[in-house]
Amino acid sequence: MTDPVKTAQLQFWRGNFGNDYIGRNSASDEQLRARVALWAKIMDSLTGAPPSSILEVGSNIGNNLRALHTLTGAEMFALEPNAEARKVLVDDGVVPAKNALDGLAAAIPLADGAVDMAFTSGVLIHIHPDQLPASIEEIHRVARRYIVCIEYFSDKPEMIPYRGHDDRLFKRDFGGLYLDRFPDLQLLDYGFAWKRVTGLDNLTWWLFEKRP
Ligand SMILES: C[S@@+](CC[C@H](N)C(=O)[O-])C[C@H]1O[C@@H](n2cnc3c(N)ncnc32)[C@H](O)[C@@H]1O
Repeated sequence: MTDPVKTAQLQFWRGNFGNDYIGRNSASDEQLRARVALWAKIMDSLTGAPPSSILEVGSNIGNNLRALHTLTGAEMFALEPNAEARKVLVDDGVVPAKNALDGLAAAIPLADGAVDMAFTSGVLIHIHPDQLPASIEEIHRVARRYIVCIEYFSDKPEMIPYRGHDDRLFKRDFGGLYLDRFPDLQLLDYGFAWKRVTGLDNLTWWLFEKRP
C-alpha cells in the first residue's frame, strides 16, 4: 500500500492547488445559510443525546463547522492537511488552536472515541481508493457515537477529471462502503442536497450511529 503521507493526492492538497482552493472555498452568506439548513436536517435526525464534540476530517476553512456553530455549542475539532487553511480556522475562531489538527484521514491524531461525532464533506472523494479503507477505519475509530458522510455519489466507483487533473476525484457509494465495512453502524437517515433548490453541489449525505 502507498505511504499515505506521500500520496500524490495529499501533496496536491498540501501544495499550491490546496492554497488556491482556500480562496474559492470562501462561503457567501447564502452558501453558509444552505450549509446551516443541511446540518439542521442532519442534526434533527439524531437519536438521543446531541454530540458534545464534533470533528470535521478535511475541514479546509471550516464552512461546515461555521454552520454547526449556529446550531450547537459542541466543542469543534478540525483535521486539515493544508497549513494555510488551518491558520484561517484558528484566526477566524472556528476552532481553538489546540483543536486545529495537522494530518490526514488515514492517521487521525486522536484517541479511540475521542469525539461524539466525526464527519467528512467532500473529502473521501479526494482520497485515492487504496487509502479509503484506512481512512474510514480511522473515522470509525475516533467517533464515539455518530458518523456523517457528505460526498458525491455514484453507484459504481469511478474517477472523474477534477479541474483538469486525473486521479484527484473518485465517486462511489460511500454510504454502502461504511455499512459493508462496519456491522455496528445503524443508518439513521440519508438524503440529497439538490443543487437546484439548495445551492449545494448535489451532495449525498448519510448519518450513522454506532450501536455495538
Ligand atoms: C473539497 S475540500 C472540502 C472542504 C470542506 N470539507 C468543505 O466541505 O467545505 C477537501 C479538503 O480535504 C482536505 N484533504 C485532502 N485529502 C485529505 C486527507 N487524506 N485527509 C484529510 N483531509 C484531506 C483538503 O486539504 C481540503 O481542505
